[in-house]
Amino acid sequence: MSQSSPFRPALEHALDHALAHLDNLSRHSVAANATLESLRARLGKPLGEEGVAADRVIDELVADTAGGIVGSAGGRFFGWVIGGALPAALGADWLTSAWDQNAASYACAPAEAVVEEVCGAWLKDLLRLPHDASFALTSGCQMAHLTALAAARHALLERRGWQVESDGLFGAPKIRVLSSDQFHGSVTQALRLLGMGTSAIQPLPSNEAGQLEAVTLEAALRESPDTPTVVLLQAGDLNIGAFDAYLQLIPLAHRYGAWVHIDGAFGLWVNASARYRHLLEGVEQADSWATDGHKWLNVPYDSGFAFVAHPDAHRNAMSHHASYVSYNEQVREQKDWTPVWSRRGRGFAAYAALRELGRNGVASLIERNCDAARALAYGISALPGVVVVREPQINQGLVRFLDPRPGATEQDHDARTDAVTQSVLQTGEALFSNTTWRGKRYMRISVCNWQTNDDDVARAIAAVASVVR
Ligand SMILES: Cc1ncc(COP(=O)(O)O)c(C=O)c1O
Repeated sequence: MSQSSPFRPALEHALDHALAHLDNLSRHSVAANATLESLRARLGKPLGEEGVAADRVIDELVADTAGGIVGSAGGRFFGWVIGGALPAALGADWLTSAWDQNAASYACAPAEAVVEEVCGAWLKDLLRLPHDASFALTSGCQMAHLTALAAARHALLERRGWQVESDGLFGAPKIRVLSSDQFHGSVTQALRLLGMGTSAIQPLPSNEAGQLEAVTLEAALRESPDTPTVVLLQAGDLNIGAFDAYLQLIPLAHRYGAWVHIDGAFGLWVNASARYRHLLEGVEQADSWATDGHKWLNVPYDSGFAFVAHPDAHRNAMSHHASYVSYNEQVREQKDWTPVWSRRGRGFAAYAALRELGRNGVASLIERNCDAARALAYGISALPGVVVVREPQINQGLVRFLDPRPGATEQDHDARTDAVTQSVLQTGEALFSNTTWRGKRYMRISVCNWQTNDDDVARAIAAVASVVR
């Protein structure tokens, strides 16, 4: 290796800083504690006339972001649904930047094209999806929704004699999306971008378990049987990790000619675990699925996957040709399946994560995180004035903190719940986020990091105890 490489100083400094960060996560605050003003003051330097040496750029970046980096890479981060990064995935992610491949097509990134083929096959196998489904590696679940729903839009309108890719949506039959009221906002965003409009979603009431019931869905389908319809089902909703009843709902939706799309941002991963896969029974009958690598697979950010049971619809919705691109029919051209052209070679990091874990490793990661979520729920519920409203079925649970004053109202409990969540964050010992679920405020327990261990769980419970008491 050349000692005089112009890359060496910056990369060596980056490695040292990265290890200092990752190896010290257990000693540092999980929450960011720099103020907005100080971050702006430190980072908002005037852009100089002259450049700065690369290693100094890296050193100053680290100094200027100090206190502004949330400890989501570590085991005491339980906010939203945010996974960490496995060592091999992180290493492969660095190489992805070093190689700087344009993953649009085989011609400019041959190894990445093949890695994506392999990832697609491994993932369909691991997630127990049809082996002939097409797939796309996207920036996250939202763009996986967009990809899959573009295929749905193509198929539903083509059946009605409308070519949406050439003719657009003006004058086309309006597509509706039937879903339980527990859908995630990323679907709404995808519908906006696809021109289907946010009003396309018709939220239907979910039952106590957070599921859409067959009678509810059938009534909505029957009301307008000729309307092109997507039925959106949840595989792990964001608040309680609820799973819809696929065995019942998917055949029902298909009887009415609907396209069934699954939001499995994190929940689809439980198909990798023999302990939990009963929750997904029948999910393979859907028409499309969206999930994330950057959540439960612990790939660094920028990793989502779309799968489509109807490859022609998928390809028709996405492919585009240009005169200056050479085409190779023997390979899978990624840009025929993804909503963007030039993009990062995101297959390498996903490939590395899957190899580092193997099948057993993925199953064990899922099961350890679910165990940790339950241990957190039990530990926190043993504290005075705490109600665990949803014991984690998988890795998500909801906790409410009651205001101890006599005559306290639901609003007082809401305020106490928010205050406790905020105070736990200020201890720096653990980070939980909060949510409104069925009109009340809750602290969410969400465990999604490969590093979370018993010590992290104990420290988090102790942090909540110190605040509650
Ligand atoms: C259930 C669900 N669906 C979709 C998403 C969106 O995923 P992404 O942020 O990767 O686009 C999330 C993110 O938290 C989610 O929890």
